[in-house]
Amino acid sequence: MLTFNSYLVLSAFVHSTLGLIQTPNFAADVIRTQQLEASWDATIEKRDDVPAGYVAPPYYPTPKGGWVGSWTDSYAKAAKVVANMTLAEKVNLTSGTGLLMGPCVGNTGSALRFGIPNLCLQDSALGIAATDNATAFPAGITTGATFNKALMYARGYALGEEARGKGVNIQLGPTIGPLGRKPRGGRGWEGFGADPVLQGFGGSETIKGMQANGVIATVKHFIGNEQEMYRMDIPPHGLMKAISSNIDDRTLHELYAWPFMDAIKVGVGAVMTSYNDVNGSACSQNSKLINGILKDEFGFQGLVMTDWLAQIGGVSSALAGLDMAMPGDGNTPLLGLAYWAYDLSTSVLNGTVPLERLNDMVTRIVATWYQFGQDQDYPLPNFSANTADPTGPCYPGALISPTCVTNEYVNVQGNHASVARNISREGITLLKNDNNTLPLSTQAVLKIFGSEAQNNPAGMNACNQRSCDTGILGMGWGSGTANYPYLDAPIDAIKRKAANVTYYSSDSFPSGITALSGDIAIVFINSDSGENQYTVEGNHGDRDASGLVSWHNGDALVQAAAAKYATVIVVVHTVGPIVVEPWINLPSVKSLVFAHLPGQEAGNSLTDILFGDYSPSGHLPYSIPVAESDYPSSIGIVGFEFFQVQDTFSEGLYIDYRYLNKNGITPRYAFGHGLSYTTFSKSSITLTAVTPLSTLPPARAAKGSTPVYSTAIPPASEVAWPTGFSAIWRYLYPYLDDPASISSAINFTYPVGYQTTPQPAPAAGGDEGGNPALWDVMFTLSVTVTNTGSVAGKDTVMAFVQYPSDSSYDTPIIQLRDFEKTDTLAPQGSQTLTLSLTRRDLSVWDTTKQNWVIPVSSSEPFVFWVGNSTANLTIACESLSKACSAGRPSPVV
Ligand code: BGC
Repeated sequence: MLTFNSYLVLSAFVHSTLGLIQTPNFAADVIRTQQLEASWDATIEKRDDVPAGYVAPPYYPTPKGGWVGSWTDSYAKAAKVVANMTLAEKVNLTSGTGLLMGPCVGNTGSALRFGIPNLCLQDSALGIAATDNATAFPAGITTGATFNKALMYARGYALGEEARGKGVNIQLGPTIGPLGRKPRGGRGWEGFGADPVLQGFGGSETIKGMQANGVIATVKHFIGNEQEMYRMDIPPHGLMKAISSNIDDRTLHELYAWPFMDAIKVGVGAVMTSYNDVNGSACSQNSKLINGILKDEFGFQGLVMTDWLAQIGGVSSALAGLDMAMPGDGNTPLLGLAYWAYDLSTSVLNGTVPLERLNDMVTRIVATWYQFGQDQDYPLPNFSANTADPTGPCYPGALISPTCVTNEYVNVQGNHASVARNISREGITLLKNDNNTLPLSTQAVLKIFGSEAQNNPAGMNACNQRSCDTGILGMGWGSGTANYPYLDAPIDAIKRKAANVTYYSSDSFPSGITALSGDIAIVFINSDSGENQYTVEGNHGDRDASGLVSWHNGDALVQAAAAKYATVIVVVHTVGPIVVEPWINLPSVKSLVFAHLPGQEAGNSLTDILFGDYSPSGHLPYSIPVAESDYPSSIGIVGFEFFQVQDTFSEGLYIDYRYLNKNGITPRYAFGHGLSYTTFSKSSITLTAVTPLSTLPPARAAKGSTPVYSTAIPPASEVAWPTGFSAIWRYLYPYLDDPASISSAINFTYPVGYQTTPQPAPAAGGDEGGNPALWDVMFTLSVTVTNTGSVAGKDTVMAFVQYPSDSSYDTPIIQLRDFEKTDTLAPQGSQTLTLSLTRRDLSVWDTTKQNWVIPVSSSEPFVFWVGNSTANLTIACESLSKACSAGRPSPVV
C-alpha cells in the first residue's frame, strides 16, 4: 500500500528537479544545508509581487507565552523544566524527527530526563487516521449541518477519547480553514460550513471535547488555504512558490481568522499554519500572522507548528514565531536534512536565533503538555501510521532501523458508533419533499439506482486515504480521513428495513425496466474532493475538473429515473454544493436529501430518516446556487501562473450567502435551508439588552509576566553527539559534529523590520481570543419553539444580524451570529431557546483603528433576524426599541 507519507516522499523526489540536495553523504548534507540555509535566510526572500493593497507587514519580535491567567500554572511548571534543559533537549522538542521516523505522522524529539517523550502528532479531523479499531466519524461538513452544538462537542469528546486511547498527544484537527470560500475547494468538507460563525462554533465545541480528554487539539490551517492546487512550494525555492492568498485586513478578521479566535478563546493547544502564502509571505514564516495576529492580538499561548513540509527557512521561521517544525525535514524529506534540529542548534550557538526565542518555543510546547495533564499517566502511541503489521521498523524512513512492536490494535471505539450515527442522521438535510413523499413506508416498492448506494467492491478502505470515488462516499480524500472499521452502506440498511427492494448498481440507467404505478425510485449520486497529493478522476484535490456537477453522470441517472418513475427520491453524498438544476424541477423528482459525508454510519443514519424513525433536522451549511456563475469569478479555482499563483480575495466579505444577498441572486436552496416532517411555530420572542453598547471595547488589561531565563548562550558541548551514541541515519537530531567550531561572528542580515523591542500591546488583544470584552453579551434573544405538527422533531433557531442602516461600514445585509437547536419535541411540545449576541457579533474590524468597532447609532437599530435559513427570515427584533415582531418582509431575496 502506498501510504500518504511515502507518496509525499515520492512526490518530493519528483519535484526535486534541480538536484540541489542529492548527495548521500550525511556530513556533507549537513554542511550543504547550512550553506543553503544561510543564503535563504539572509533576507526573508521576496516573493512575487502581490496586488496593491495586500500587505504582509513585518511584526517582530515574537510575543512570549505565559502571560494569560488560565495558563499560569502550566507555564510555571514549564519554566522550571526549561530552565534546566540542555540546548539539545530544547531543540529536540521543537523539531520533528523526520518523515517516517516514528509511529505517528509527526513525531518530535524527546526530553526524557523530564519525563517528556517523543510527542505523537496524528491526523485527522474526523478520526484517528491510518490505523485500526477506531471510529470513522461523519465529516465536519455533516457535523456543521446538524447546527447542534451539543453534538459538535460530543463528536469532539469521542475523537479525543480515541486519540488518547491510541497515545496521540497532539491531534491534527479540527479543520476550520478552509472556510469554504470556494465551492470547488478540495478540503471545505473537513470543516463545518461556509460561514465563520458556524466554523467558529464547530471548531470550538470540537476542541473543548477533544481537550477534555487531555489531548492537545490543533486548529488548522492558518490561514487562507482555500484551494488545494498550487498550495505548496515546489522545491527548490524559486522554481514555483506556493500560491499567495491575498486577503485584506478586514476580511481576514471578519471571515477567515474569526473561527481561529474562537478556537483560541476556548484554549486550543496548537495551531497549524497553511502551506500557502498570505499577501506574499509564507504562512510558516509570516511574522504578521504568527507574531502579530495569533500571538499578540489573539493572545495564543500554545504552540504553532508548520503544515507538513511547509517550512521554507530556519531562522526566518523562528523569528516569525514558529514553535514546531513538522515533520522536521526541510522541504525535501528523507535526506536527513532540516531547517531546524541540528541547524537550530547552530543558529542559537552563533546567536542568529536569539536564545530567548528558542526558550519561548520550548516553553510553549512544555506548557501546553502540562496544560492538558499529559505529565500524568498519558499513554505512549500503541499504533503505527506507517504499517498495519504487528511488528516492523521503528523508523521506516531510515535505511537501517531497529524493529518495534508497531501495532497493538487497541480498540478505542467505545460506544462512539452511536455518537457517529446521531450526527450523521442529524446532519441529513431534506431540501425538497413534495407531497410528503418522505418518510417512506417499509412496505413501499423500492427501486434503488446508482453504485453510490453500495460499498466499494474492492473494499471500504481500498483506496489510500480514500483517494477514489467508488461506492458510497462517506468522506472526501486525503489526510483528513480515517480507515473505516466498517461502512454501513445505504443499500444494506435499506434492505434491512424495507420489504420490497430491488437494487440496480450501475450508474447507467438499466434498459428494459418497467415501472409500475406505486414504484418509488431512490437514486444515489455523489460529488467528491480532497487533498492535492491525489488526483481523483481528473480532480486535483479541488473539484477543478468536475465542477459542481454530480460525478459519474449522476444527473443523467436522475433524469432517466425521473422519465420512468412517477416518484423519484434523490440522495446526494457530497463534499459541498452541487448544482441540481438539470433535474430538480422534473415533476417526478419529489424529494431531495443531502446526506453530506456520513462516515461509517452511512446506512443506518439514512434509513432512520427515509423511513421516518426520526424527522430530519439538518440545515445546509452553505448555499446551493442555481448556477455556479451566480458566484463571483474571484472564488473560482485559480489556474497556473509561472513562479507564483496569485489568489486575490477581491470579493472581500462577500462569499456564499453574503454575496448572493448583496447581488439579489436567489439561490436554489439558501444557506440554512432544511425541511422537517413536522412543523414548528415560534412565539414569545424577546430581546433583552445585557450590556450597554459602546463604539470601542473597554481597554484591555496589561499583559501578565512571562518566564525569564538566563540569556547566556549555552556551552557548545550541549549539542555535541553524546559519547557512544548510535545515530539512525536520516533521523533528525539536535547534535553537531563540531559544535565548538561554531562562531558567533556570523554576518546575518535580519528581515526588514526585525526588532527585538516588544511591540506595544494591541488594543484588540488582552486575553486568549483577543480583548475579553469581545465576548461580552450585548443582547440575548429568547424564542419559544412549539412543535405544531403530528410527529416528533427538532428545530433550529438561527440569529442573523443586520447592521444599522446609517453605518458607514460596508457590511453584508445579514450575517449569522448564533444558533441553537431544540431537543426532540413531541407534538405540541415546546422549548425556549436563548441566543446570544456578543460585542464581536455587533462589531466590524476597523482597519484604521485596528480594533473592533460597534457602529452605534442613536436613530437606526441593529435588526436581529430570527429563522432557520437565510430565505426564511420574517421575525425580527430591533436593538433600540427591543421590540420583536413577526411577519416582516425578508431582508434578502
Ligand atoms: C495536511 C495537514 C495534515 C498533514 C499531516 C498535510 O498535507 O495539509 O492537514 O495534518 O499533512 O498529515
